[in-house]
Amino acid sequence: MQPLKCALKTSQTLRQSPLSSVIRQILRTYRTTSHLNAKVYPELEKQQDDRLQRDFSSRLASGPTFQHFLRNASVPQEKSDSSAAVEDPPPYLTPEALLGKGRKVYLETYGCQMNVNDTEIAWAILQKSGYLRTNSLHEADVILLVTCSIREKAEQAIWNRLKRLKSVKARRLRSQVPLRIGILGCMAERLREEILHREKLVDIVAGPDAYRDLPRLLSLADSGQRSANVLLSLEETYADIMPVQTSSNATSAFVSIMRGCDNMCSYCIVPFTRGRERSRPIASILEEVKKLSQQVLQLIQERNNICKQIHLPAQSGSSRVLELMRRGYTREAYLDLIHHIRESVSGVSLSSDFIAGFCGETEDDHLQTLSLLQEVRYNVGFLFAYSMRQKTRAYHRLQDDVPEEVKQRRLAELVVAFREGATEANMAMVGHTQLILVEGPSKRSTTELCGRNDGNIRVIFPDIEMGDGIDCRGLIRAQPGDYVLVKITSSNSQSLKGVALCRTSLQEYSAHR
Ligand code: 5AD
Repeated sequence: MQPLKCALKTSQTLRQSPLSSVIRQILRTYRTTSHLNAKVYPELEKQQDDRLQRDFSSRLASGPTFQHFLRNASVPQEKSDSSAAVEDPPPYLTPEALLGKGRKVYLETYGCQMNVNDTEIAWAILQKSGYLRTNSLHEADVILLVTCSIREKAEQAIWNRLKRLKSVKARRLRSQVPLRIGILGCMAERLREEILHREKLVDIVAGPDAYRDLPRLLSLADSGQRSANVLLSLEETYADIMPVQTSSNATSAFVSIMRGCDNMCSYCIVPFTRGRERSRPIASILEEVKKLSQQVLQLIQERNNICKQIHLPAQSGSSRVLELMRRGYTREAYLDLIHHIRESVSGVSLSSDFIAGFCGETEDDHLQTLSLLQEVRYNVGFLFAYSMRQKTRAYHRLQDDVPEEVKQRRLAELVVAFREGATEANMAMVGHTQLILVEGPSKRSTTELCGRNDGNIRVIFPDIEMGDGIDCRGLIRAQPGDYVLVKITSSNSQSLKGVALCRTSLQEYSAHR
């Protein structure tokens, strides 16, 4: 169990879990008993007190655990572990019956970002069970509304939607598989069976902690039962379920790190619909973030309108210094990431920041930074001598013990190592024709233009008339924002120089490659 989760559970225990009431109950019983004994046999009071204390301590030590109390707690809407919240299918539901068999699910999301995430989780579960997804209500065999209860109006919207869905269900042909309608999320939790009674067209009701049960609830509906699972859990975080992004053209993604809420703001229903606050295990959050990062790398690789440059500030090549800096990674982990990026994005250009002479940096640490620079060979580098800043942790806890002249000498050595790598990397581009995005006139000369190649490296070329298009449809002067084909003729560690061949566009360039 992760420490964060553990800490959270402990605080829950103290505040409101069934265990705290059990302990209170034991203590109350113990007090009452000893009080009675004291009245009847006053001379035995102390001896018995001691014995009871010992008894109680040994019973506590050998007795049931916290998990045991949670499992056996008779709090009706809470279950301790996620798997228990999903009931075993009744014997007449074969594993086969739990499968979607290609039936199409239409999901509609109302309310907050948690509901967007819940939709992705519910869909991940159904997809695994063999359901298909549709974005068309009229193609759907299963319609699921992920609902919101935060304000009365939010619920009213769902009741109105259900009225309209009535006609969709009524129009369903007898020859088709019956249309199933489900209410998921907060409103399901708040109104439970009332939804089944009030709106006869609803087949299943699943609260925010019951999505694992969706395949079973749907197959119960097939056997003619309308059913609800609104059990709230103390632990369910869907940690093992990788949410499936519901919209393919989404511009952002959410990574949920917790569920539920314990704040109990006096106006808010969330603690009652989403249950106790619980954190997702850190490993599962990291896994999801890794997956998203991988998708970003893939996008950088695939799309020609995204520049292939990644800035990964290393700061030092020594794991010992990285720890003093509290960077959260080692030299090895950093290098692994660099290799992974180079494998994922061919021709990627890398840049980094380094600090020379951080507190406690030895000559050996410095050599390791030099070797990192030599190993990675960055295209762009930002190198600094360490300067102690007030208020920082280093200011309070560490010694700025590398003399200024040593810092400057180390910095100069880092610059030399960086330049070697960058000079070599840039030299490899000489003779190639590159697509350059024009930024404007060069700072050094009014007769030259400055732009960037796909690796975000500065490219300088003469501002002269050039052909418009690869097939030269006329003569133009390149403007900021234009794409220009430039043949690279020379290089140094900072930039490239070349001659413009023609103006082009991303589309034309891709078509000609
Ligand atoms: N001394 C020297 N360099 C620093 N940087 C940040 N703080 C300091 C400091 N106190 C550098 C790091 C960071 C970049 C923006 O500035 O390399 O990545």
